[in-house]
Amino acid sequence: RTLDDAKDLAGKTALVRVDFNVPMEGGKVTDDTRLRVALPTIQRLRDAGAKVALLAHFDRPKGQRVPSMSLKPVVHPLEELLGAPVRFADDCIGGPAVEAIRDLDAGGVVLLENVRFHAAEEANDPVFAQKLADLGDLYVNDAFSAAHRAHASTEGIAHHIPAYAGESMRRELDALDAALGKPQKPVIGIVGGSKVSTKLDLLKNLVGKLDKLAIGGGMANTFLYAQGVDIGGSLAERDMAAAAREIMAEAHAKGCELLLPVDVVVAVEVKPGAEARTVKTGEALSADDKILDAGPKTVARLNAAIDASKTLIWNGPLGVFEVPPFDAATVATAKHAAARAKSGALIAVAGGGDTVAALNHAGTSDDMTFVSTAGGAFLEWMEGKVLPGVEALRA
Ligand code: 3PG
Repeated sequence: RTLDDAKDLAGKTALVRVDFNVPMEGGKVTDDTRLRVALPTIQRLRDAGAKVALLAHFDRPKGQRVPSMSLKPVVHPLEELLGAPVRFADDCIGGPAVEAIRDLDAGGVVLLENVRFHAAEEANDPVFAQKLADLGDLYVNDAFSAAHRAHASTEGIAHHIPAYAGESMRRELDALDAALGKPQKPVIGIVGGSKVSTKLDLLKNLVGKLDKLAIGGGMANTFLYAQGVDIGGSLAERDMAAAAREIMAEAHAKGCELLLPVDVVVAVEVKPGAEARTVKTGEALSADDKILDAGPKTVARLNAAIDASKTLIWNGPLGVFEVPPFDAATVATAKHAAARAKSGALIAVAGGGDTVAALNHAGTSDDMTFVSTAGGAFLEWMEGKVLPGVEALRA
């Protein structure tokens, strides 16, 4: 159920779960992307004359009232973005919350203190969920990025009052559906990052769904090693070789073409501007050599595969993008995909972990079809898992 199904909102109180788990330094928000993402839902509810009470978590206070994990520093940047005052209640249940909501005018907004200051939040305690639900008339979940958590404010509460997906949640789900649910084929995936072990379920799920899957980053080293390729002193999980071979066999059986690097950029030191050379995979390396990026032939092959695809789903960088020149493959591929997406020839959806940072580094985030603000939730969704926060919204 979406906000289109929520009628007669004037004078009602909407409890809106947002994800304000934003980067903060010295009590200041350093990246307001997640605040911006929440604006359409807040504005829509305000325009409909509802009172808006925002529920959110920040960090992992483990049920303790940790002052440095208060949501208070979010109030001012949110007011600036919204162009309207935002009240703050220093508890998400009980007197402070009830009074703050009662004092709001129609269209008013209050941010309630970190729900994780109560251990009952993560325990998904039904009594606590009821207390949250008692604060309002309807519940709106606009926090896809927290939807993999079965907590009271992301799941439990939806069983107590009418529950709807917010605008950002709906956009996320539509984009993810377009990428992996009912995608335009052929579909290509790019999965990078350092470890196979953390992405085993994800890789297994993807080889059953994609036409092609390119593997990059440190995890490509593990796959190359599993094929008997010399990877010198590269970062790899050598004990995962059997698991990598299993994935290769599964991909083959399911008709998913795996694209592994055909050339790589090698250096002895991982530092900006380090001396590097490009070698064909399979060439002998010394024990000091580390594979730090995919080479130009690999990028050309990957870009050609992108050109032959209608949909791209991307998680994880292709190299050590934080340390130039080892950002070259990630930047070149991101630029190529973004240009295709901008021209309308490709649906390109990206997200999870440091993918957003890598795409921002390449200056391509705006041209992708959709970049998810979710980390763990995006990965769990790519693994094919049911997200409890999403399930609870199904009518
Ligand atoms: C995130 O930042 O990915 C979400 O807010 C979830 O946070 P969590 O991993 O602490 O549950």
